[in-house]
Amino acid sequence: MSNLLTASIGKKLLMSVSGLFLILFLFVHLILNSFLLLDGAMGYQTGQMFNAGAHFMATNPFIKVMEPMLALGFIVHILYSLILTFQNMKARGPQRYASGNKTTGVEWASQNMLVLGIVIFSFLIVHMFDFFMRMRGYIAWTPGEAEFPFFGSIAKGEDAYTLVNATFKNLTIVIIYIIGSVALAFHLAHGFWSSFQTIGWNNTTWMPRLRCASNIVAIILGGGFTVIALAQYLFF
Ligand code: HEM
Repeated sequence: MSNLLTASIGKKLLMSVSGLFLILFLFVHLILNSFLLLDGAMGYQTGQMFNAGAHFMATNPFIKVMEPMLALGFIVHILYSLILTFQNMKARGPQRYASGNKTTGVEWASQNMLVLGIVIFSFLIVHMFDFFMRMRGYIAWTPGEAEFPFFGSIAKGEDAYTLVNATFKNLTIVIIYIIGSVALAFHLAHGFWSSFQTIGWNNTTWMPRLRCASNIVAIILGGGFTVIALAQYLFF
């Protein structure tokens, strides 16, 4: 086990598996956030679908167990990506300063994964202050509680919709979300297929398919979060 954590391939494996786990979280997160669009499309001005979804996530015991796992996933992914990047830089030595390192055929994203990761991490700090810290009561916020249909009855819970809706009335915040989402899309366009390659799923039949799937994952997640932020600002 200690070999797995210290050998270079073991570190890459941990980075890949944690990255795939985070992608899974992002799909769940996007599905919940797309309730914001459904509320708008159905004319539910109080955001009852999004509030019900947020209430489900906040009260479901399985989600409560997954939350520390998610935090661990982020820590492992960030830690090992930093360790591997600096190991690679050290191994390459002075070569990394050579001017002509624009290797043809290697996409731009793959050469900028660390920078993209730093942009996403910076976005996440803003994002946690916007929503997570407020919904968990670490920062005071005013909208209070709302009532919404929940599995056949009426439930009371935090008015997450009003918080999100008010947040996206600010153009600067919307621009920050677009930058974060675009960085996420580029990060995933390389990271998704690269994770499968590390795991060993790298034969000539599957690699082109996985590269194509990577672009689709990047467009769905990056595009999805962008559209939601923009739609909230422009229409709701
Ligand atoms: C339109 C864009 C987005 C909206 C409206 C949104 C909304 C939210 C809300 C309301 C929460 C608080 C949930 C709670 O505490 O119960 C949250 C948490 C979180 N979001 Fe987002 N989010 C967006 C984009 C993103 C993106 C792009 C990422 C990752 C790159 C992300 C990662 C997270 C994480 C890690 C948490 C904390 C875990 C959790 O509470 O589920 N979000 N988001």
